[in-house]
This record gives sequence, structure tokens and C-alpha cells, in this order.
Amino acid sequence: SLRKEASQSWQGKKMVITAGGTQEALDPVRYLGNYSSGKMGLALAQAASEAGAQVVLITSIASSPIYGVRTQIVHSAQEMLTAVTAEFATAQVFISAAAVADFRPATRQAQKIKKTPGQKTYTLELETNPDIVAEMAQTKCSGQIVVGFAAETENLVKNAQKKLARKQLDYLIANDVSDSQIGFGSDENAVTIFQAQQAPKVLPRAAKLTIAREIIAHLTPALTSKTE
Ligand code: CTP
Ligand code: CA
Repeated sequence: SLRKEASQSWQGKKMVITAGGTQEALDPVRYLGNYSSGKMGLALAQAASEAGAQVVLITSIASSPIYGVRTQIVHSAQEMLTAVTAEFATAQVFISAAAVADFRPATRQAQKIKKTPGQKTYTLELETNPDIVAEMAQTKCSGQIVVGFAAETENLVKNAQKKLARKQLDYLIANDVSDSQIGFGSDENAVTIFQAQQAPKVLPRAAKLTIAREIIAHLTPALTSKTE
């Protein structure tokens, strides 16, 4: 059966998955964050583990343990990059499902930031974070597979294809976050899988775990052909 084929392909293969938003420290008591629930990444970790892969989940979101999944908690994009770099060195697949903050506060204040009486505005200087998935794609070894996600609110196909090429990804999974019924925070999702030189594959609205199992099944042929 297809299930059995999948589990034989993934047996002994290590997969690194990131999930959830990053937290970028501002001072000892505050951070900049985002609304990512981490559910899609968690669903992928479960689906990959079910398929027989050895899964390492790197996330900012504490959750109940997933059977067969080793979880590492990180906070900032920089911490996530360090953890992913170390784990991906011995893995076949990296799926970057985390909502990594594009920018972080340029300085982390050692003491809590105080407001002065009568103050009307406060200006923050931000600096660009490393692009974790792009770095992994650019430094990967042959046979390694790098999968990115894209949250788009407009021009989904065009933006997704640009992102796939710009980051040199093997796969890009695009979800349309302009539909408030699905995506961020929801238990359901609908995605399109982009791959260079291939027609996009639409996975219609379904539970995130169902979508995750379909994504893992979609990656299975690449794994087999690249490692044998
Ligand atoms: N990503 C990453 N490191 C970053 C930013 C994004 O690894 N610093 C990854 C995400 O995990 C996702 C992919 O890049 O897999 C695309 O994220 P997205 O925010 O859609 O793309 P960006 O390149 O940040 O472009 P923009 O936000 O401007 O659309
Ligand atoms: Ca971004």
C-alpha cells in the first residue's frame, strides 16, 4: 500500500521541522512576536513521525509531547538558526514552518525600558534577522531537501514562485492567509505546493493533520530518488 511504501522510505531518515513564531527580545520583560499558533508545524511533526521518520521539532511553542518527536524550545530567530544548523547537518529534510520574525530590535536593553512622563511616541530600531530556510537551502549537501512555507495575502502564485526561486528551495508550500477562516490559529488549512519545473499541486481545505500527511506523502518520491 501507499502508506507502507511511505513508511519504508522514511524509516531511518531524519527530518528537522520548525514551528511557531519567534520571540525577539526588547528588554528583560518584553519581546516582539506574532500570532503563529505553530499548529501546522506540529501536524507535520506528527505526520512525519507516523511515516517512520526520526523527527526533531524546533519551536517557540511548548506543547504536549508528540510520540516519537524530539522537541527543542528556542525563542529568537538567531537561536532557531543555531539549532537548525546543528540538527540539519545530520538530516535529510528541513521543513521551515516557523513564522520567523523578519526583523528584531537592534539592541536588547539590559534593563526594563521606562517611559518618561508625557511621552507621546517611542521609536524602535529594528535590524534584519537571518533567513534560516534560505541559508539551509544555500549550504545544503546533495540529497538534502529544503522545504519552505509562504504566507501570502495577495498574488499567491506569483509571490510563491518568486520565493521558491529566490530562496533556492526544493518545495514551497503556500497558504493564503487572506482567508480568515483558515490558516493562522485555525485547525484547518488549504495549501498549494510549488516545485521548480512542476505544475503546482493544490491541497484543498482540510484538517491541518490531513494536509500534513498529504505534504509528507508528496515529499516521499523526492526522498527515495535522491537517497538511493
Ligand atoms: N523564513 C526563515 N527565516 C526568516 C524569514 C522567513 O527561515 N528570517 C522562512 C519561513 O519559515 C518560511 C519562508 O521563509 O518557510 C517564507 O517566509 P515568509 O515570511 O513567507 O517569506 P519572507 O522571505 O520573509 O518574505 P516576506 O515576509 O517579505 O513575504
Ligand atoms: Ca517574513
